[in-house]
Amino acid sequence: RKKPVRVAVTGAAGQISYSLLFRIASGEMLGEDQPVILHLLEQPEALKALEGVVMELEDCAFPLLRGVVQTSDLAEAFKSVKYALLVGAKPRTKGMERGDLLRDNAKIFSAQGKALNDHADKSCLTLVVGNPANTNALIAASNAPDLAPENFSAMTRLDHNRALSQLSAKLSIGVEEIKNMAIFGNHSATQYPDVSQTGLTLDDQWTKATFVPNVQNRGAEIIKFRGSSSAASAADSALKHMHDWALGSEEIVSMAIPSDGSYNVAKGLYVSYPVKCHGQGKYTVVDDWKLNDYAKQKIDLSIKELQDEKKAVGELLKSPIDKRQAN
Ligand code: NAI
Repeated sequence: RKKPVRVAVTGAAGQISYSLLFRIASGEMLGEDQPVILHLLEQPEALKALEGVVMELEDCAFPLLRGVVQTSDLAEAFKSVKYALLVGAKPRTKGMERGDLLRDNAKIFSAQGKALNDHADKSCLTLVVGNPANTNALIAASNAPDLAPENFSAMTRLDHNRALSQLSAKLSIGVEEIKNMAIFGNHSATQYPDVSQTGLTLDDQWTKATFVPNVQNRGAEIIKFRGSSSAASAADSALKHMHDWALGSEEIVSMAIPSDGSYNVAKGLYVSYPVKCHGQGKYTVVDDWKLNDYAKQKIDLSIKELQDEKKAVGELLKSPIDKRQAN
């Protein structure tokens, strides 16, 4: 048996974590031969609820679960962790401006970036789920000068899987038959799911007027029906994202990663691209994707939104990524 690895999850008493933690502990994320020690971070007022979740984790008697740390202290939460899933974030409340939401979350993710820098394993892979995920990833990475920016990513896998499922239903084919589909841009309603490389025969009008908006607005649709945001499906995607990033994947997947300038995107922005995962945190952007003018226009809008988000959090961005951009 392998030595246990430490996995941090923030927002551990929240909805997504209520599905996520149990599946990490069962071995679905890192494999059934990899024991884990969970480091669970919560706000002080949610530590009691977290205690209840941990009691349930204990009651599952997972053979791979070798320990649980419960804390509201960042240093303790990130001490020696090899994987970090940053799920906890400040939700948007009624009457709150988008700019306020960005800034409040920027504070959380700059503090977490610094703490990861100071306490996590230097090879730690960090996935940002909490929204606005792409910009939160940018902030966390820019506050962690000793960690590689490529070891931070934001989640667009849920958007990816939503798109696969819509295509599968439309064409009555299995999801596993759909290859080379990818989400480009921001994890927001401006994201662009591109089907041009799938080789599927799709009606252009359906793609533009139904498929793309359905994928872009699926999150809001779930809220309308469920009364709260997608949780089990978000946990599922977080698990698959981390699994593929850590262990590799056969298929092209979507991940928001620091742009290397591919597809004319400003370097350093965290943008969703088609990615091939090679395992142990290594990946390459698929850079020969042929985008048509319509797709390029849509992606430009999403990139513009990311640039505006970056501007809005201005002073909380530390230098490393910006410096690299100048190089
Ligand atoms: P939730 O509100 O049920 O749970 C969030 C938890 O985070 C709460 O328990 C809260 O106490 C905790 N928290 C807040 N600030 C924290 C901090 N600074 N440190 C530690 N814990 C903190 O929310 P849920 O449903 O679990 O969603 C979490 C986030 O994931 C939200 O931002 C949501 O918008 C985002 N999300 C992202 C998706 C994606 O595809 N990227 C999909 C679905 C949700």
